[in-house]
Amino acid sequence: MAQALDVVILAAGKGTRMFSECPKVLHKLAGKPLLQHVLDTAKSLDPAKICVVYGYGGETVPQTITDASLRMVKQEPQLGTGHAVQQALPHLDGKHVTLVLYGDVPLILRETLLPLIRIAQSGKVALLTVEMENPQGYGRIIREGGKVRRIVEEKDALPAERCVTEVNTGIMVLPNQYLTGWLAALKCTNAQEEFYLTDVIDLAVRAGIEVATAHPSRQHEVLGINSKSQLAQVERIYQQEMANKLLSSGVTLIDPARIDIRGILSCGRDVVIDVNCVFEGLVELGDRVRVGANCVLRDVKIESGSLIAPFSLLEQAEIGAECRVGPFARIRPGTQLAAEVHIGNFVEVKNSQVGINSKINHLSYIGDATVGSKVNVGAGTITCNYDGVNKHRTVIEDGAFIGSDTQLVAPVTIGKGATIGAGSTITKDTPGEELTLSRAKQLTIRGWQRPVKKAKE
Ligand code: UD1
Ligand code: CA
Repeated sequence: MAQALDVVILAAGKGTRMFSECPKVLHKLAGKPLLQHVLDTAKSLDPAKICVVYGYGGETVPQTITDASLRMVKQEPQLGTGHAVQQALPHLDGKHVTLVLYGDVPLILRETLLPLIRIAQSGKVALLTVEMENPQGYGRIIREGGKVRRIVEEKDALPAERCVTEVNTGIMVLPNQYLTGWLAALKCTNAQEEFYLTDVIDLAVRAGIEVATAHPSRQHEVLGINSKSQLAQVERIYQQEMANKLLSSGVTLIDPARIDIRGILSCGRDVVIDVNCVFEGLVELGDRVRVGANCVLRDVKIESGSLIAPFSLLEQAEIGAECRVGPFARIRPGTQLAAEVHIGNFVEVKNSQVGINSKINHLSYIGDATVGSKVNVGAGTITCNYDGVNKHRTVIEDGAFIGSDTQLVAPVTIGKGATIGAGSTITKDTPGEELTLSRAKQLTIRGWQRPVKKAKE
């Protein structure tokens, strides 16, 4: 049986070039901390254990990434990558192999790591390397007779060694059986006075253990993030990949360069997404859903055939089939729209259920309301749900017609088929099928004169 896997994720660095109080690995890629991307990939490998080595920023990392299945190990001070892995040793099983990943290398793929792990399970040390036209800054892979002999860091390299274009990605898989000994043997007599993890390669070769290499299918998988500029670059790569996945599954993106997915977006058939839309959390779009330009959708489910018109913001809501929402609509948490509901411009709906075929088309606030089916809510209608202390519900029964500029002071119920005259302030329940209004009678003052401007002295 293959040896089980432990994973050590190095995440202790400060990230000086981020110029931030926030530890580097907590900066976000596609709305999720860099470290979380690496953790998700690590978990997909089904390891026996995952250790995160943290350091800079005190307890911010373990306080942010609260996952009981992880072993959080503090490295203080940070004396190099070898020293970092050493901190995790007490948690590693002597019979397993250990994969070393980096909290600031977020795009690494499971498909790249699996063959690397298999190499190690065959009794070798496995090293992920890439060819780089400009290898500056990276550790160089020094081979002898084609076989890996050691790794030399840029700062320690001789001019001839600096010409080597095969570089160390840092990602490797090591047999735990030897790791304790190798790490204990590391010395910091080098240009950076650090304990280099890369020096275990030399120790492995001396011990007669072969070092074999594998390569990522795409170079960006091993891009490390050291600055905001690199973070932005990697964000674009990530978003382009998400867009490509959507396109290849049949989604129409008007411009794949102008979509941002910060979570999981799943789409039915013939979905069309216009430019500059942001999708966060879990978003599900049914068949034939169209999302207009500049919409933000966060944790929403939209049933088939619905249209979200431009500049709408929807969060934690469920939108039924064949609805029309927006333009300029705000759908807040706890909203459920049944099928064929129309929500128009400058309408805010919060924590409300709206029944089939009801329309709230202009300039309204509907909060904490239960709206039946075939209801028409006129322009400028407001549910006064808050008395300054408590929230109260408004119930509008099926077929009611609410005239424009009405205030419904909750708790209040508008009966089935009721009509409310425009401009009313409704404070008591209204009977069904009747017209109710609360409005001062219109009067005309005959002969009334507008004031005239006083003459200056
Ligand atoms: C390291 C490799 C180099 C490789 C490069 C790839 C070593 C000695 N060198 O160099 O061969 O080409 O990565 O990017 O390993 N870290 C800790 N604790 C420490 C030191 C580092 O957690 O004490 C973490 C950092 O947060 C960072 C990672 O390890 O995420 C790499 O450390 P860094 O000092 O940036 O290594 P490089 O000099 O880039
Ligand atoms: Ca360094």
